[in-house]
Order: sequence, then C-alpha cells, then structure tokens
Amino acid sequence: MLSGKRLLLIIGGGIAAYKVLELIRRLRDRGVDVRCVLTEAGAQFVTPLAVAALSENKVYQALFSLTDESEMGHIRLSREADVVLVAPATANLMAKMAAGIADDLATTALLATDKPVLIAPSMNLFMWQHAATQANLATLKARGITVIGPAAGNLACGEVGSGRLVDVPDLISALEEAFLANTPLPSLVGKRAIVTSGPTHEPIDPVRYIANRSSGKQGHAIAGALAAAGMRVTLISGPTQEPTPAGVKLQAVESAQQMLNAVEAALPADLFIGAAAVADWRMASAVDQKLKKGDGGPPALHLTENPDILKTVAHHAKRPALVVGFAAETENLLEHATAKRLRKGCDWILANDVSPSTGTFGGDYTSLSLVTAAGIAPWPHATKAEAARRLTHAIATYFSTLRDA
Ligand code: C5P
Repeated sequence: MLSGKRLLLIIGGGIAAYKVLELIRRLRDRGVDVRCVLTEAGAQFVTPLAVAALSENKVYQALFSLTDESEMGHIRLSREADVVLVAPATANLMAKMAAGIADDLATTALLATDKPVLIAPSMNLFMWQHAATQANLATLKARGITVIGPAAGNLACGEVGSGRLVDVPDLISALEEAFLANTPLPSLVGKRAIVTSGPTHEPIDPVRYIANRSSGKQGHAIAGALAAAGMRVTLISGPTQEPTPAGVKLQAVESAQQMLNAVEAALPADLFIGAAAVADWRMASAVDQKLKKGDGGPPALHLTENPDILKTVAHHAKRPALVVGFAAETENLLEHATAKRLRKGCDWILANDVSPSTGTFGGDYTSLSLVTAAGIAPWPHATKAEAARRLTHAIATYFSTLRDA
C-alpha cells in the first residue's frame, strides 16, 4: 500500500528526532521514497549522514545552496512529494508555520507545498500547553493540517505529561491514511454493486416498531465511495438521516423482509455489501390495530426470526462474485468475525468493535479489520469515509486480480 509513495520528511530540532531515524528505516522497508529536509536545529540531534544513509537519498539543509537550487529547488522539493510530514514538530516550527514565516529551507518548503501536511509535535509539556502553542495548533488545524499526537508520558526533560512524539507505528498509520486519501480511487467502471445500510424497523403495530442504533453512516459512505470509483450502486437502506451519496440509486425500505425483497430484485450484481444492521427478529404475526393498554397488563410480543439477507445472497443462484458482510461485536471480535465469515458463506467480513466506549455506533470514526480467507488485516482507526475508500481500494484490487487470473 505504501510502496512507491513519496514522502517529504522535515526533521525539526527536538530530542525525539532519533525516533525519526527508525521511521525512515521502516518506511524504506515498505518501499516509500523518503526525501528529508533537516533543519539547522534538527542537525544538532541527528546527523545528515545518518539521515542520508537511511533514506538512501540526498539530505536537504540549506535554502540558498546553488547545487540544490539547480538540481532540486525548494518548490520542486515540496511539490514532488505525495505527503509532507514534520517530525518532530517543535514549538518553533509550529509557530513559524502558523505565521507563514519562511526563513529556512524547511519553512519555505512548507509554505510552498500544495500537498497534505502532517505534523507530529514533540516538546516540553509547558511549551505544548502554552497559550501561544495552542493558538498556533488551532490555526494549523483550521488550515487542514493533520496533527499526530503528541502522546503523554515521561518527557526527555524529566517532566511527565503530554509532549512525546508518538511512536513509529502510529506515525506510519497516519501516513498510510494520508497517502490513501491522496491516491485517486481505482476505477470500477462498468461493475454493479448492491449495498444495504442503516437499521431496519420492524413494526409492532401500526404506530410502534423495533429498531436499533445504526446511523447508516458506514453503509452510505461505502455506497458513495463505490459510486465515486465508477460503480453503478443500488443502496438499499432502512430509515436514516444520512443524505443519499452522489451518483447512488437509493431504495428506501423499512423492514428486513422489505430489504431482502429489494436486494433480490436488484440482483444480479458483481458485489454485495451488507452494512445494514438488520433486526434479528420481527413480530410473529402482523398486528393491524394499535395495541391498547388494558386490564390484562402489557401484551407479550411474540417474535420470529428475520431472514438473513447476507446469508441468502451468499447462497443465491445469482450470487455476486464478491459478498462482503460486517460483524459488529463487543467481545472476541476477530474470533467471532472469522466464524461468521464461514457461517454466512460470504467472502469478506469487516469486523467492527462496537463496544459503547468506541463510539462507533452513530459516530464518524471506526476501527475495522478485514477478515478474508487469507487472514486478518487490521485497518487503522479512521473516519467511516476513509474506511469506505480503503474498502473500495481492496475491492478494486480484488477485481483486477480476478481479471488478470
Ligand atoms: O449475524 P449478524 O447480524 O451479526 O451479521 C452481521 C452481518 O450480516 C451484517 O453484514 C448484516 O448486514 C448482515 N445481516 C443480514 N441479515 C440479517 C442479519 C444480518 O444481512 N438478518
């Protein structure tokens, strides 16, 4: 996923710069082209030689270097990357960025770039908490700069608190997200998808129903990402507040039975994604009149099982080539998801931790793992829109390998 991506890494002057050497090494292992700008202060903590050796590239230090300007000026340096990362981002670098000061190569490149910029702050706790730094942080965030960390813990200065550079794996996850967001979606033109989304409402009587907390955010985001990649998408959704994504054909339903009917009517398709939180049960028999309060006490609700839409599609005569389900679990997530993939007969399961503490239900963020026959791939914590893009990439890769096979 990272192979061939180009990173401009600006190394600021902080003790945590040593961690960046490890970052460069890990990124090179994964095929990232790393170009480094070492600030004057940064060079007090790590040597240009170490940075050049690990990045296998020339290290850029001086703004007014004749050879650099002829070979690779600061404008090109800042534009030829896919993403720019400042790590460690010192209070001084953040202040200069916020003010638009360009008095060395690093700050000039940051002002000249047209690429996404990430900063990983690292500094003393009081410097981090200072109103000036916090105001600069707010300015940078408002300009769309992604801030990674800082983490809390023991600081090199001997104090304890927020100010540590995040660990290398966290820097890599954040970079993966940034590279992905900046990669054009692969084309899935000509293929058809059916996506279910939202909750279902199972009527108890004409005025009451059984529902769940699904917002439809994930299913709608997936439908939108697939349509953006050129697929013809039918989105079959229970009641939600989510706007219909551009280019998607929406079919609104209420109950599980209606959802199943709509899905079967929409087949055949190349891809089915069951992102709906389908109610497991419905009333055993329809109640035509509103249930009344009476002397007999509360009514007993006799329930019966709903059809399993995902399982039905996975075993259908018109089974799509790729059938994807979700497993929302609160415990033993991956174990349950792996078993569910086999039980349902689907190809992929997206395992989703929905413990209340995660805020996944109704929230904008999610932590998914992709469970396939080949194994389990944990995905970074990300917005549901980013997860939808990541899924679209995986789907496009899957169809392209089918085509090549
Ligand atoms: O069995 P469980 O509800 O945990 O399975 C979740 C997956 O199955 C989701 O992809 C959901 O959309 C799908 N599902 C379905 N029909 C049901 C129940 C779940 O399509 N009746």
